[in-house]
Amino acid sequence: MSLIHCQPIELPQIPDARGNLTVIEGDKIPFQIRRVYYLSDVPDGTKRGGHAHKALHQFIFASSGAFDIHLDDGHEKRTVHLHRNNLGLYVCPMIWREIDNFSPGAVCMVLASDHYLESDYYRDYSDFLATVRSDLK
Ligand code: TYD
Repeated sequence: MSLIHCQPIELPQIPDARGNLTVIEGDKIPFQIRRVYYLSDVPDGTKRGGHAHKALHQFIFASSGAFDIHLDDGHEKRTVHLHRNNLGLYVCPMIWREIDNFSPGAVCMVLASDHYLESDYYRDYSDFLATVRSDLK
């Protein structure tokens, strides 16, 4: 799994004079959704994330406001600015991610392929790097 697999997904949005209606259908997301959580009220200047998942797939978008997500597969890095509530990013397993530059009132919505499991996390960057680099040997 590498950054190539982390692709944007556009959600259908139905605008009208009363506002926008945005739809998430399970079969448009590349994994079965088992959990939804969100980050809100993030203080200015705060960084979230700072970990990778061993097996978890996620779809991340700004349901309001904006933030940056920095992705790193141990070989390449990429930053994506998420600022539209109908354009999210699929993040595959084994991607180190950090999220920062939250605008005031931003909400980071995360759809995830499994329930919370601490043993699915790499929280130490050097452990993560050692694992992805040893996979190449
Ligand atoms: P963490 O995943 O480190 O947050 P972030 O990546 O947004 O910075 O989680 C923060 C804390 O919340 C940590 O103690 C684990 C806990 N947590 C749950 O209990 N359930 C969950 O679904 C998530 C995502 C985190």
